[in-house]
Amino acid sequence: MVTINENYLKLSGGYLFSEIGRRVTRFKAENPQVHIINLGIGDVAGPLPQAVIESMHQAVDEMAWPETFRGYGPEQGYDFLINSIIEHDYRSRGIELDADEIFISDGSKCDTGNIQEIFGIENVVAITDPVYPVYVDTNVMAGRGGEADAAGGFERIVYLPCNAENSFVPQLPEQRVGLIYLCYPNNPTGTTLSKAELKKWVDYARENRSVILYDAAYEAFIREEDIPHSIYEIEGAMEVAIEFRSFSKTAGFTGTRCAFTVVPKRVVGYTRESEAVSLNRLWNRRQTTKFNGVSYVVQRGAAAVYTPEGQRQVREMIDYYMTNASIIRNGLLKMGFQVYGGVNAPYIWLKTLDGMDSWTFFDRLLKDACVVGTPGAGFGPAGEGYFRLTAFGAREDTQEAIERIKNGLKL
Ligand code: MLT
Repeated sequence: MVTINENYLKLSGGYLFSEIGRRVTRFKAENPQVHIINLGIGDVAGPLPQAVIESMHQAVDEMAWPETFRGYGPEQGYDFLINSIIEHDYRSRGIELDADEIFISDGSKCDTGNIQEIFGIENVVAITDPVYPVYVDTNVMAGRGGEADAAGGFERIVYLPCNAENSFVPQLPEQRVGLIYLCYPNNPTGTTLSKAELKKWVDYARENRSVILYDAAYEAFIREEDIPHSIYEIEGAMEVAIEFRSFSKTAGFTGTRCAFTVVPKRVVGYTRESEAVSLNRLWNRRQTTKFNGVSYVVQRGAAAVYTPEGQRQVREMIDYYMTNASIIRNGLLKMGFQVYGGVNAPYIWLKTLDGMDSWTFFDRLLKDACVVGTPGAGFGPAGEGYFRLTAFGAREDTQEAIERIKNGLKL
């Protein structure tokens, strides 16, 4: 008799965005005449920047000739992309990285989900709450969650609540934890941490020999000064942090798939005998065994993001989404909602009406305004009573969604 990984049974319902998709499909089937505006999953309205398209076309042509055809590439990514990343994303901010500290991948979802494999099962995991559900779900699947608890979380996970009361700034854990997931600019709250606040986490990790898993997928949306774009801007972070970046939201790659993870060689974990082991070595071993790299064509497309033309086009794209963010933010504020985020991030986080629970608010918005958002509770217990809207829609849809919310909810 084959047995299953019973940890999967501890996860309630489906993956958050699949569950939303299921409810929307059912609503559409029951109301085929309505046009639904989806500001739920953070999927870009597209299209890809022209520089990316041209570069990918060229790469496709190269694949047509024996002299320029590429088969398997390096599992860690091609140098042409890695070197551009180092130059533009890091050296420009005074951060020095070696090429073998960057791992190109097909998405930050996979990387933030897979990274836990290289850590011991006994590690205590701390996460800010609410947060991108992949971090908790993958640790629960691996067996680090323990049982589900009455509060809607898991008993072995240390939740660090972020809410309006603490201005969405997480407190350091009271107990010693091994792994710390931080996501800034934050998905879902759209809030950020200052350098001084982030420094506290780096210091904590150094004192406790913990590792910070820093998801910076939304760094390109930062507008204000003094907000760190990379955790490596903080002194000492090179010894304790792994950073995740993505082309998905920055350059419209949600369907094209390209991202990268930075694992500095100085970041270590420990054996039971307290021997330090480089995590770069372990991640490299994991990737070379389980991953065959991102396609040449896609990596050529990603590299075009760093050309002057690509940079200009990407900036325009980000400005477009951030204008959407202000439309949503200002529209909701005028309606009297309590609103957060949307200034340095493409996510707007709001308190639901009259203390309504977040799934009830989801159903109400879908029924009365035909607008899809994401219920805060799907991001963790502290997300209950909140709701997320994304700025990644088309402009007209975004404007119409705000009108519909105002009229549908009679605000
Ligand atoms: C989100 O909506 O939170 C993201 O689009 C999900 C993802 O990036 O996987």
